[in-house]
Amino acid sequence: MTTLNVQNRTLFHGDNLPFLRGINSGTIHLIATDPPFNKGRDFHATPDSLAAGARFEDRWSWDRDVHQDWIDAIQDDWPAVWQVIEAARAAAGEDMAAFLCWLGVRLLEMHRVLREDGSLYLHCDPTASHYLKALLDAIFGRAQFRNEITWQRTESHNTAERYGNITDILLYYAKSEDETWNGGFHDYEGSKYSEQQLKRFRHVDPDGRRYRLENLTAPRPDSDSGKFEWRGTRPGPTRGWGYRLEQLEQWWQEGRIHLKKDGTPRTDGLKMYLEDSEGKPLQNLWTDVSRIPNTSDERTGYPTQKPLALYERIIKASSNEGDFVLDPFCGCATTIVAAERLERRWIGMDIWDKAHDTVIERLQSEGLAAPDGDTAGRLLTFGRVGYSTVAPVRTDEGETAAPILKTKQKIAEPPGSKMSRAEMVDFLIDQNGMVCRGCDRQFDDPLYLELDHNTPRSDGGLNHISNRLLLCGPCNRIKSNTLTLSGLRRENAKRGRMAKKGE
Ligand SMILES: C[S@@+](CC[C@H](N)C(=O)[O-])C[C@H]1O[C@@H](n2cnc3c(N)ncnc32)[C@H](O)[C@@H]1O
Repeated sequence: MTTLNVQNRTLFHGDNLPFLRGINSGTIHLIATDPPFNKGRDFHATPDSLAAGARFEDRWSWDRDVHQDWIDAIQDDWPAVWQVIEAARAAAGEDMAAFLCWLGVRLLEMHRVLREDGSLYLHCDPTASHYLKALLDAIFGRAQFRNEITWQRTESHNTAERYGNITDILLYYAKSEDETWNGGFHDYEGSKYSEQQLKRFRHVDPDGRRYRLENLTAPRPDSDSGKFEWRGTRPGPTRGWGYRLEQLEQWWQEGRIHLKKDGTPRTDGLKMYLEDSEGKPLQNLWTDVSRIPNTSDERTGYPTQKPLALYERIIKASSNEGDFVLDPFCGCATTIVAAERLERRWIGMDIWDKAHDTVIERLQSEGLAAPDGDTAGRLLTFGRVGYSTVAPVRTDEGETAAPILKTKQKIAEPPGSKMSRAEMVDFLIDQNGMVCRGCDRQFDDPLYLELDHNTPRSDGGLNHISNRLLLCGPCNRIKSNTLTLSGLRRENAKRGRMAKKGE
């Protein structure tokens, strides 16, 4: 088994892709992360807050946000992922497809770095949750889907034109059947119980145990049964004690009887302790974690900050003490503070330049970090918070952690050694003739045909021939912009129509 090549409590500052690519495969226990949602707008921090000045853009385009080599890699190695991106492009447009490609290349790395017992929770909202679920099915395998959790993030969000959107989605996937799962329980105010349970058990013993009161009497309108005086209390005229005297005495001795001010028992005074009742297992609808109140100390002012209670719940359910929790989009450090509180180890990443200071300030305000006068100026109780802008170097010799998935999706290669660019062209001509796949024109000289914009990775890369195309020069140039064969054909058809009209 490979070991993790990043130290506990490291905050990476910058684009997370190179950092993720530098982590050894199969080394992370839990990824709980909240990337941009593709909302098509910018987010700004509250002025005068801890996060003042922070902003991030949540708009996506092929030109600005997506690199050609990501497209090549996905098309070569992850055809199902590419098909999901294509489907999103057809259904929702270019921005959605660009967003999925940008996030998809990172989710592939997240999948790779997870251990076999690891899990991913991806926070999103209905803007893209349906496409992201398809993307994660293609990356993790559909059998690894565990839950789509709906979190009610606010009480109301009124809009005139439609129902108010008040929920976020968390997509939960496991790397394999062996995932860590401690069970999900309600955990109101740090306990395993729900808010309703805590409200019902509203009395508290001097030793801190919560209890509710149960009636000790029962209706006895027509009988004398139980109608005796016990320790100075007699049930009402139509009622009798519901238990035998010995039982009542036993509870008295055990201190289970709630007394009136005069020291006599209350007729509804049987103490039922919360600790004797089961925690309430959680379902996939979470309505009991409320938004962070404006006046709460937890609030940093960071746009899109999530409540600690939400991430503590996830971390408790899907990791154990000492496990490594990774958040590649950690923002103002919610996952990190939650992990530290629960004695997990963590790695955080964010492109925001104040992420490191914010991690430290939040940990300090929680009593989990203290100033110590070293050069970084701070020391955690258990060790320093590391800071890096440099990607880690893998020590697992680039081993892939996703052999199963790769085997499932591998495209059949022609037998023989890897092909050079020229060999690929010859192979495609043998298969299809000297035809441009973009405009269907037939040529009589192979000189007019080029391999499509995807660089064949004949020099050390995979040379999947099955998704390579032979194109004429003009089509290849159009395809560099439209990126797909269907896009190229649509573009050619449009140009054909325009040419006919003489435009
Ligand atoms: C929705 S916010 C996360 C909020 C976080 N859950 C919290 O409670 O503070 C998304 C974060 O992704 C970060 N981000 C966007 N693009 C990034 C990239 N390429 N690499 C690393 N972080 C990125 C943004 O700076 C932002 O902090």
